[in-house]
Amino acid sequence: MYDLYADYRLDSGFDVAQTARLVARYHYVEAQLMRVAAGKMAELPAWELKCLLGRHLWQDSLHADAWLARLIDLRWPRRAPLNPGEATCQLLRLLDDAPGSAAFTAAVYRQLKPRLAAAYTAHRAACAALADEPTWDLLGRICADEQEQIRQGSALLASFPAEALAAAQSYEVAVGEACDAVGSFADPATAAEREAGGSFEGQLVRAAPPIAARDARFRFGERAADHPPADEREMALVMAHRDADNEMHAAELLGRSLYEHPEMPWEYHVDMARQLWDEVRHAVLYQRYLEHLGGRLGDFPVIPGNYAYRIGLDFPHRLYDLHLRGEKLGMADLIRYREAARANGDSRYALLNDFVHADEVPHVKNGRWLHWLLNDDETAFRRVERETMRLRAAYEQAHADDPIVMAYTGLVPAMLPQEE
Ligand SMILES: [Fe+2]
Ligand SMILES: [Fe+2]
Ligand SMILES: [Fe+2]
Repeated sequence: MYDLYADYRLDSGFDVAQTARLVARYHYVEAQLMRVAAGKMAELPAWELKCLLGRHLWQDSLHADAWLARLIDLRWPRRAPLNPGEATCQLLRLLDDAPGSAAFTAAVYRQLKPRLAAAYTAHRAACAALADEPTWDLLGRICADEQEQIRQGSALLASFPAEALAAAQSYEVAVGEACDAVGSFADPATAAEREAGGSFEGQLVRAAPPIAARDARFRFGERAADHPPADEREMALVMAHRDADNEMHAAELLGRSLYEHPEMPWEYHVDMARQLWDEVRHAVLYQRYLEHLGGRLGDFPVIPGNYAYRIGLDFPHRLYDLHLRGEKLGMADLIRYREAARANGDSRYALLNDFVHADEVPHVKNGRWLHWLLNDDETAFRRVERETMRLRAAYEQAHADDPIVMAYTGLVPAMLPQEE
């Protein structure tokens, strides 16, 4: 009879305690790769880099989550990470200091991730495939993701200008040296030392940029109202352009919400990473639709408001304004866009808005983190709700030229809001 396990040898390998230490370090490295990339979303200008980071940091959130779950199987009694040691903490702090897009991309995809993938490969080779099949299996799947990420990140890196790559060189060398100081990520002798206070212990929080960076294609500072769309086709182009940009603002804001709160529970970070990736995909969906209509990014002016306004809010008010006000109010519009597109026979736009709407349901649900933050205190929740609405009203009065505001106030009735 066919024997699935015929080729699995009863060989020796790392024991349970050694494996737990390695798994704990993988969790820490993957978690911090996710968090640092999320924090960089608003800071690094290249649109394609933001798109790539959104997808990869979501994958890393799943990798980190799988490692944390595996840790419990390995006789570690609770869902708490271990501290991976000072050299690993220092390496990941250095990653957060990357001086620009080329430096960050080179550090992640030419230094850190290749070493992580090499560790996964080495560990898998040394792993007792039968006795420790769950770890062996995870190593195979996560390593395949990492190798794909390295391919994609390297391709992006190759498209940076030569001067940017040259300027990044000394930083990349420093990251390489910090990696060498850790040694092999698959060496249990240098791995996790003691229980950590959280998945991001030993990491700092850099200040948020006041506006989300855009690359040279984008134009700020022009009033959309000064160039009203000439006809229905141009209106569709303006809307697709605005929605691509606004969805990216949502991703950039979520990146900061994820990055700025290492004290929040691990599950919060997994939720934010997923929503961030969704928003990046929405940005790309509207970008592709714009291109299908014959437009390109940069064809119309953009307004930084969707990120710039919310980044000034404190944590509870930002959670309310994004998840429970913006996301919730935007949902009816998506249905309306879908139905109008169906009536017009525009199957692409109908399908796009159908899926974007489906994604928004869990985004509103993520507002439960505000309830959690407020210890389920209904009075406190109502107070945050009232204050958020009041702050928003004051902002809208002071920013009458913001297209989102104009849509709400009826100044540009056709440009109905689809903000988040
Ligand atoms: Fe990963
Ligand atoms: Fe979205
Ligand atoms: Fe959303």
